[in-house]
Amino acid sequence: MQGALTIRRLLRLAAALALSLILPAPALALDGVEIEHRASALIARMTLEEKIGQLTLSSNGPLYRPQEVENGLVGALINFNNAQDAASAQALARRSRLGIPVLFGLDVLHGFRTTFPLPLAETATFNPALARNAAEWAAREASHVGVQWTYAPMADISRDPRWGRIVEGAGEDPFLARAFAAARVEGFRKGGLATAVKHFAGYGAATGGRDYDATDIPPAELRDVFLPPYRAAIDAGSETVMSAFNALNGVPATANHALLTGILREEWGFAGFVVSDWAAIHELIAHGIARDGAEAARKAFLAGVDMDMVGGLYSAHLADEVRAGRVPEAAVDEAVRRVLRVKLRLGLFERAPIDPTRVDAVFPTSGSREAARAVAREAVVLLQNRGSILPLSPATRRIAVVGALAASAKDQLGPHAARGHAEDTVTILDGLRARAGRAGVEVAYAEGCDPRCTSGEGFAAAAGAAREADAVIAVLGEPEAMSGEAASRAHLGLPGRQSELLEALAATGKPVILVLVAGRPLDISRELEKVPSALMAWYLGNEGGPALAEILFGDINPSGKLPVSWPRSVGQIPIHYNRLPTGRPTSALNRFTLGYMDESIEPLFPFGFGLSYTSFRFSDLVVPARVSASDTIDVRVAVTNTGERAGEEVVQLYVRDVVASRSRPLRELKAFEKLALAPGQSRIVTLKVPARELGFHLDDGTYVVEPGRFDLWVGADSRADLTASFELVDGLRLPPGQRAAGRAPSVR
Ligand code: BGC
Repeated sequence: MQGALTIRRLLRLAAALALSLILPAPALALDGVEIEHRASALIARMTLEEKIGQLTLSSNGPLYRPQEVENGLVGALINFNNAQDAASAQALARRSRLGIPVLFGLDVLHGFRTTFPLPLAETATFNPALARNAAEWAAREASHVGVQWTYAPMADISRDPRWGRIVEGAGEDPFLARAFAAARVEGFRKGGLATAVKHFAGYGAATGGRDYDATDIPPAELRDVFLPPYRAAIDAGSETVMSAFNALNGVPATANHALLTGILREEWGFAGFVVSDWAAIHELIAHGIARDGAEAARKAFLAGVDMDMVGGLYSAHLADEVRAGRVPEAAVDEAVRRVLRVKLRLGLFERAPIDPTRVDAVFPTSGSREAARAVAREAVVLLQNRGSILPLSPATRRIAVVGALAASAKDQLGPHAARGHAEDTVTILDGLRARAGRAGVEVAYAEGCDPRCTSGEGFAAAAGAAREADAVIAVLGEPEAMSGEAASRAHLGLPGRQSELLEALAATGKPVILVLVAGRPLDISRELEKVPSALMAWYLGNEGGPALAEILFGDINPSGKLPVSWPRSVGQIPIHYNRLPTGRPTSALNRFTLGYMDESIEPLFPFGFGLSYTSFRFSDLVVPARVSASDTIDVRVAVTNTGERAGEEVVQLYVRDVVASRSRPLRELKAFEKLALAPGQSRIVTLKVPARELGFHLDDGTYVVEPGRFDLWVGADSRADLTASFELVDGLRLPPGQRAAGRAPSVR
């Protein structure tokens, strides 16, 4: 007994120490031992109801019961997005018997008041430093009015653009997603917010792209592809983890002991707390694994969910479950301790009261706008530019801007815009008008149709405006309500009659530039045949208008790259570049090989793709012939700007393990670097690949790096063809739980 207690105490101290390493220095830095001591002292004084209170998250709005806060029965609150509400709720909490502060959480994803591009767009920059800076701004603004915890980053890998939430994440690639998850956590924490990496785990693999549907991911693939970005966020210091809505391989993530306790705590040593997604514990009943609220609460809790987000089931049932002996009170104490550790470490107990007079209207500032514009400039992806129609030639005297989305500030903010305001937004139309005005270029605007394009009445006027212009900028795509949560689509075409509108514009014979506003790749194969140029403009936020105008007029050279493969048609989905080989590789000469009878096997645009106004050449690839698993491989390549404009290129490195004990992907991204080159300039880049990153998992979680030949490619996208091989002379084998891949790739 004595021994067990000592071991438990040691484990606690180790956990405290681990947490003290990952949490940022609070205003008043408490050390791990003091945190443990204070948490223990509080727990010793708490009633069972007060303990469960710490595990209860309530929301502003109809669910909010101020009296419960004052009674110490609420540990955290969501949707308190202004200082006045937060200050009054915090005052109530501080008046409770033990005076434990509540933790205020909110979805702060891509800015708070200043709205930045959506995470998927931000990932298209291939520049994690920008994401870190964006997250820091968002955190600073949110914490200004009392928010302390963001439900971000979303680290769910998704290979399915039918899923509306693909826009909230980093796309299809685990290596890229790791880099962005880590950068975002670092930025949020630097700006003063704790983070909740979500949605653990596998939410982005929803069957059929249907939000909330079950996911089935083989164990090895789960560890190779889906789990690494969450782990990168935790390594970067994420204090909390949000459990997902979905069932993972038959067990809802929110009651999944193997995931929440086995992998997260036992293997990874995660010492923070797990919060459920919105009412996800209650949903265990609909999932068919709990008869009633009591069973749902018990299953979620025993699986490893520490905090119930707005379901009210812990507060309704957990005390009875403890009294009935079905839930050990010691486990409740541990969960409370995890919550208190985060609060203590954040310095919430020592923080001055929230100043209720603070408002978010002090933002955006010139600094936050500049930061948002920097992301927007690099997020835009030039998809097509036949005849180098872009940038607009100096001979352009008049442009026609067509499409309601060009003038819709609200849609430009995109989904999940926290406190984003339409009136802070410079629309695409306004940005173009301002830039064109400076160049003496006239701008005519025609809506064409409403954002969902339900009527063709305005088409003739739009075509009329096009006829009188030298170039037409057609801003089409998805209004923001068609993207984000609960916005799955079975059809990915341009909404309503937008395609017809585009056709009417193209029929004028004027060069049409398609600017696509959307949260995901759309099915635009046919449309692209009708227009010379197309840009993916996502939802660019407050500074999208000026950024896009700079690109169209050539002040900025586009450098965005697709963080997802872009399908030719919905039937190709799921589509991703890092797929496994087949025994029958595609061959035009043999029908009995991988492919479709009625569609190409290739995406419309590959992962990592994006054009520039200049061109780049990759040459002189140098790779060591033989490497050891303990080496970091230096891959050298020369990159030359062979065009006439300055530009930025993302050097991408892919590898393939040619023969292994399991089939390995045809290609996997293992390094990237964005660099700026003047016209004619050449630079030697050295990309570094730790050889331990070349491995993969077995079904039982063992991580292996196997010796043998590896092929490697370097270039501007996942089809890069500059190639070399090397020999890995030895291997590595790590049991489950031991650190396999290294930390997230470093950010310049
Ligand atoms: C979403 C989460 C979000 C939560 C709180 C849920 O519906 O799935 O991503 O953090 O709501 O707003």
